[in-house]
Amino acid sequence: MKICFIGTGYVGLVSGVCFSDLGNSVICVDKDNDKLSRLESGDIPIFEPGLSELVRKNLDAGRLSFSDDLIGSINKSDIVFIAVGTPTAKDGVSADLSQVFSVAHLISKNIKSHKIIVTKSTVPIGTGDKIEKILNKNKKKGLFTIVSNPEFLREGEAIKDFKYPDRVVIGANDNKVVKIFNELYRSIINKGAAFVSCSRRAAELIKYASNAFLATKISFINEIANLCEKVQVNVDDVALGIGLDKRIGSRFLRAGPAYGGSCFPKDTKALAKVGKNYNSPLSIVNSVINFNEKRKIDIEKNVYKILHNKVKNKTICFLGVTFKANTDDLRDSSAINLIYKFIKKGARINYFEPSGSKEILDKQKNVNYFDDLYSATKNVDLIIIHTEWDEFKNLNFLKIKNNNKKVTIYDLRNLYDNKSFNKSHITYYSIGRPVNA
Ligand code: UGA
Repeated sequence: MKICFIGTGYVGLVSGVCFSDLGNSVICVDKDNDKLSRLESGDIPIFEPGLSELVRKNLDAGRLSFSDDLIGSINKSDIVFIAVGTPTAKDGVSADLSQVFSVAHLISKNIKSHKIIVTKSTVPIGTGDKIEKILNKNKKKGLFTIVSNPEFLREGEAIKDFKYPDRVVIGANDNKVVKIFNELYRSIINKGAAFVSCSRRAAELIKYASNAFLATKISFINEIANLCEKVQVNVDDVALGIGLDKRIGSRFLRAGPAYGGSCFPKDTKALAKVGKNYNSPLSIVNSVINFNEKRKIDIEKNVYKILHNKVKNKTICFLGVTFKANTDDLRDSSAINLIYKFIKKGARINYFEPSGSKEILDKQKNVNYFDDLYSATKNVDLIIIHTEWDEFKNLNFLKIKNNNKKVTIYDLRNLYDNKSFNKSHITYYSIGRPVNA
């Protein structure tokens, strides 16, 4: 099929490249010419394992191309995916849909033959209806069908998630179009993905509700972890014990710092706003948002406690600053919030990050990036394991001990068994577990 993706951000680029890998002819469109030249030479602006090889392969096969010609690309395609950003708006909660609507206006002024227009961007309920109105206003009735096909890709796992999803969701109020999507995703469905066909509004809500539910699971286990610390129980045992109940499921029950990234914080807030707009308050989602904010403060307080409230002139080493492993993304990473708080209190920060140094941190006074993990952990007062990179799962503690008078570790990802630190002369704190028990 002939497809075009408008927007080469995370979602547009990964999905476009993966569709070309399935044998479709795909044009990825963007306004940013520098980015397009980089992409054409196989230089990928985002950190996503396996993506660069896939871009190269499909460019060479002639199935994938990049263009700044929005109108030309739309007119060459049967299916147009809108994959532009929907960041949080100025009000701090709603989704800013200006980029989506501006693309809709451009399409409405320029289409000449029938197109299937798909929202891949995460958009609130009713956005498809509004796009339809924009096109109808420009008297394009009959020349388009608007579909919602949300994505469920995780950063760092996006190619696998595209190729082997649990489900493909198509929200279309037109059976002929549903059949076309069934064909487009045929090889993925044949590998076991469920095909969920529903109304466009239902598809829009499925996306938000999925992210909100996952965020709820994380906040739930984080709150249980707080209780575990009080009652001397290991939260990992609790997560295992409840997760084996298939009705609950074991995934997304890893206790840790506040959840972050470009999706959960933004989408939970936008969903809560939609609930408010429709006079149907989403109290659970609101609690999750509030709990996650409080989690940042709780972790910060725990650090002060570990340092006996003496933070000034202390050196704190962060292992990992991204919001999770296998990404270079800092958006809403709890590490950033913590680092700012600590430097304000007069601490010095060392950090080692497998995806490389971060400009936003390097600009800060008293924050130092090290390209070697053991140099970063030398002569420090506290080591915080913030991100669950594989590099941190087998640390050489002997080396760390040799580099420090006293070693204190706060492991926010429970990468180690706390019993193994008994008699080690390392003070080890983790999440939701009895101290060194
Ligand atoms: C999330 C969803 O998982 C994807 O399905 C969705 O497509 C994507 O948002 C999106 O809407 O685009 P992502 O933001 O890449 O994907 O990250 P996740 O792997 O979901 O992790 C989000 C946050 O939750 C991270 O801070 C992570 O550390 C935290 N987390 C995750 C936990 O603290 N515990 C867990 O058990 C799982």
